[in-house]
Amino acid sequence: MKKRAIVTGASSGIGKEISGVLVEMGYEVYGFGRSFSDEEPDQIDTKRDLTGKICTENGTDAQNEEKGMLHRIVCDLLDTQELERQIKQIRRQGGVQLLVNNAGVGYYGLHEELNTQKIQKLVRTNLEVPMVLTSLLLRNLKKCAGTIINISSVTAQLNNPHGCAYGATKAGLSSFSRSLFDEVRKYGVRVVTIQPDMTKTELYRNADFAQGEEEASYLLPEEIAETVRDILYMREGAVVTEITLRPQLHRIRRK
Ligand SMILES: NC(=O)c1ccc[n+]([C@@H]2O[C@H](COP(=O)([O-])OP(=O)(O)OC[C@H]3O[C@@H](n4cnc5c(N)ncnc54)[C@H](OP(=O)(O)O)[C@@H]3O)[C@@H](O)[C@H]2O)c1
Repeated sequence: MKKRAIVTGASSGIGKEISGVLVEMGYEVYGFGRSFSDEEPDQIDTKRDLTGKICTENGTDAQNEEKGMLHRIVCDLLDTQELERQIKQIRRQGGVQLLVNNAGVGYYGLHEELNTQKIQKLVRTNLEVPMVLTSLLLRNLKKCAGTIINISSVTAQLNNPHGCAYGATKAGLSSFSRSLFDEVRKYGVRVVTIQPDMTKTELYRNADFAQGEEEASYLLPEEIAETVRDILYMREGAVVTEITLRPQLHRIRRK
């Protein structure tokens, strides 16, 4: 039977790449997002070998014959009732071995300029939703000694002027993640916190800055997804609990 995974924010950026890697690893992925681009097939057909190299449909890599599939779930994660309904439906169909809390929003600027709605969206999307999903799935994950991967941010470890609220939600998520590992490790559940630095995605659509032009000034979403794959290939009994990824250069560009 295929392993089953839930990935939030599967419609773009880091979550989309993670979903692709999980499908390549043979997972049946339930990917949550509000809007998926229409051109994408429900089932991802691309196959890669374990080094990440793309194989053709007729590729001869026997290790990868078993590929998974992606179910796109259109759902606003802030609609808690609908989220619970969707999760209950997935649980009824069988076990869930992996939860990737990836969905997030970013609002930046002077704190006095963030309105109440933006603050609530930050806290709810980046912190409340991962906590709620974890609670809805934890019994299930304990039964199958599953894995929770929380996509936090390097800002969790820093002082973040012009990003005080965003950084606080990520510090909260990293703290939750660390404590949860201590709570559930005896049940064989792995809890992993990934803290990426600036990554080339649409996260900064609302900001007045973006990543620098040079390739060394940002990470690629594929690189975070490859990290997820490496974590999942660790032998049972060994856990990477926290990983920080940073680009070589620290550069941002004003828009
Ligand atoms: N990019 C970076 O530099 C960076 C650095 C560190 C950490 N991160 C973290 O990485 C995670 C992924 O971000 P990204 O960089 O890949 O940005 P992104 O391309 O903007 O992706 C964000 C994802 O979250 C989903 N999402 C947001 N609100 C949602 C809601 N209410 N309901 C359902 N889905 C929702 C979006 O889906 P829809 O739009 O379809 O709803 C989208 O798939 C975030 O947690 C972010 O904080 C990013």
